[in-house]
Amino acid sequence: MAQVTREQREEVIRHFRYKGVLTDNVPYGSGHINDTYRLTFEAEGGSCIRVILQRMNSTVFARPVELMENITGVTSHLRKKIEENGGDPERETLNVIPASDGKPYYQDSLGDYWRSYKFITDATSYDQVEDPRHFYQSAVAFGNFQKLLADYPAETLYETIKGFHDTKARFQVFKEAVERDCMNRAASVEKEIQFVLDREGVANCFSEMQSRGEIPLRVTHNDTKLNNIMIDDRTGKGICVIDLDTVMPGLAVNDFGDSIRFGASTAAEDETDLGKVSCSMELFELYAKGYIEGCGGKLTKKEIELMPMGAKVMTFECGMRFLTDYLQGDTYFKIHRRDHNLDRCRTQFKLVEDMERKWYTMKEIIEKYNSLA
Ligand SMILES: Nc1ncnc2c1ncn2[C@@H]1O[C@H](COP(=O)(O)OP(=O)(O)O)[C@@H](O)[C@H]1O
Ligand SMILES: [Mg+2]
Repeated sequence: MAQVTREQREEVIRHFRYKGVLTDNVPYGSGHINDTYRLTFEAEGGSCIRVILQRMNSTVFARPVELMENITGVTSHLRKKIEENGGDPERETLNVIPASDGKPYYQDSLGDYWRSYKFITDATSYDQVEDPRHFYQSAVAFGNFQKLLADYPAETLYETIKGFHDTKARFQVFKEAVERDCMNRAASVEKEIQFVLDREGVANCFSEMQSRGEIPLRVTHNDTKLNNIMIDDRTGKGICVIDLDTVMPGLAVNDFGDSIRFGASTAAEDETDLGKVSCSMELFELYAKGYIEGCGGKLTKKEIELMPMGAKVMTFECGMRFLTDYLQGDTYFKIHRRDHNLDRCRTQFKLVEDMERKWYTMKEIIEKYNSLA
């Protein structure tokens, strides 16, 4: 996408009919997907009102109107629930500010789509786990999100990225990439390829359980990173789940599993010293405890029981995607060095092996909280 210009931003701001005088307009946050700005308006009497203005990423999300329909549906539901529970809907959910024509977005004269949210004050989104309590708070917040949306009809949501966690389909794409071997790289990664082929059952298990009706379709977030949670500066509590672009129908265990995949790993995703890579059982337990508490009894016993499997499936899927991209010539994930995707694939498979080794510990941890849930 082209850089946002000042004229473009001015045109967009005119189409949101904000109250007050614009006194500040700055790029904001450290998100990688959208272009985010914070606007400050001075209202009569000198009070300040802040809003978030975002240009949506049309490369990643091809259907912004459907995406905003998902977001307005989900946030209206959250607002109702938060009010019923006596919470503060201005801070505990995103609030879409409609454009002047009443639509939840504005399409500018260059064709880009924009949206605006009320600014959540006195809260921070952290990029790194600086304190394990933040990781725990993110678990409670994502669990609570699941709880509040447990009665939302998940099947009415659009899939903003088709087949995002269809691990079974991704396994087939992987096999095709091995067969085509367009970069002649397959021979050099035989071990990694075999690692995937040995685990077809892992790739297929959730789709089979779903077709047998053993696990329910849920509203899932699909980007359950720490920096998509606003943590209250005063109380230290995770108050709001943000970044709802990837809200889709899916499996709660996958949201849980993806958080473990990157949050409970002892090393960076592209660490080359595999000796440093493991899945921390302390962090696994901390997150599991927070997530189960946050879900407040809305997960089934079966879903809770499957949480270790969620962690393994998400980590396996991610490693398999890195390897697929490596075989296809690094066309999807941005690389910063040769074999970057292969390094990433290896950390994920190291984590999968570590989880397999610690399987009974993970099961026991979950069992403990499942009996309390
Ligand atoms: N309603 C909001 N109030 C305050 N800050 C916000 C709000 N929405 C987003 N932000 C800030 O902007 C950053 C980027 O927004 P996000 O929607 O996560 O975009 P991306 O998809 O690019 O990650 C967030 O990490 C957060 O710091
Ligand atoms: Mg984000």
